[in-house]
Amino acid sequence: MVATKPPVRVRADESGIAAAAEVIARGGTVAVPTETVYGLAARADSADAVAGIYRAKGRPDFNPLIVHVPDVAAAEQLATFDARARLLAEAFWPGALTMVLPRRGDAVLAAAVSAGLPTVALRCPAHGAMQALLRVTGLALAAPSANRSGGVSPTTADHVAASLGGRVDLIIDGGATEQGLESTIVGLRDDGTWAVLRPGPITADAIARVLGDAVEAMTSDARGIEAPGQLASHYAPGKPVRLGAQVAEPGEFHIGFGAVAGDISLSTSGDLAEAAARLYACLHAAADAEDARIAVAPIPEQGIGIAINDRLRRAAA
Ligand code: TXA
Ligand code: MG
Repeated sequence: MVATKPPVRVRADESGIAAAAEVIARGGTVAVPTETVYGLAARADSADAVAGIYRAKGRPDFNPLIVHVPDVAAAEQLATFDARARLLAEAFWPGALTMVLPRRGDAVLAAAVSAGLPTVALRCPAHGAMQALLRVTGLALAAPSANRSGGVSPTTADHVAASLGGRVDLIIDGGATEQGLESTIVGLRDDGTWAVLRPGPITADAIARVLGDAVEAMTSDARGIEAPGQLASHYAPGKPVRLGAQVAEPGEFHIGFGAVAGDISLSTSGDLAEAAARLYACLHAAADAEDARIAVAPIPEQGIGIAINDRLRRAAA
């Protein structure tokens, strides 16, 4: 049964967080802003609650979820931290870095969270609302992006409501998210190698700098099942998408960048951080436009532009 009534919305204040914590405690789902995108949160220790996430998203159940924790101490209850994980946590937590680590045997996590993998993806988010929800509930929270599976990730509460409607029990409205692109996922392997499994706001170069002499241990390949969520077709706005477009063709809604004006611009000044923050809002706007197709201006393949182009390629696939 899928609910059709509009979801309840609350503000990201004390009473809103308290209401959300109650929903979480009884195994419900809450859409909550993070510094990257809105997440669809449920308690990670309950198989029923986690099933609620998969149901609301319509997500294939081989795709594991990111588990959010308030701090490193909570993360260490769930996964084995080696020296590299400690360095990365010190450098980037709280923030937009997710680490895939060996799951502890005694971790109190529903099996479905990591979809049968021996690892778990952990993130300590920086956003006040998500931090408050983690602390008030005292629980680790599984939270994928709060959109129907395969769709464009939400950066506002309106995006969540449009995508999930009554499938989510409660939405915490904290305004537009700051960074706008999902966290970087780094896999730290037992053999000492590591790989960026999903590019994001924290670049591979920044990670390599922190890991120092482990730079040569970086491998560009994600090995098979390592990043099962990285399907080619993802972030799909529901229309054909053409990339690298300096000029739009008839029937195309043009997303510009820098000198390429377009119908709407990711950043008129050519600022990549602004472009990242606006990417999904622009894709949502393009999806809602009357034009049958979408064209996107070229984006430089540097810094967070790498993550922007990764998402655009998937949107175009
Ligand atoms: O910024 C973000 O990371 C947002 C916010 C809400 O925190 N969350 C997010 O979650 O993007 P989601 O579920 O949409 O993306 C999870 C990704 C998927 O690509 C999945 O394959 C990967 O993380 N993942 C999760 N657990 C994994 C594991 N044990 N090994 C490898 N990849 C894993
Ligand atoms: Mg997602």
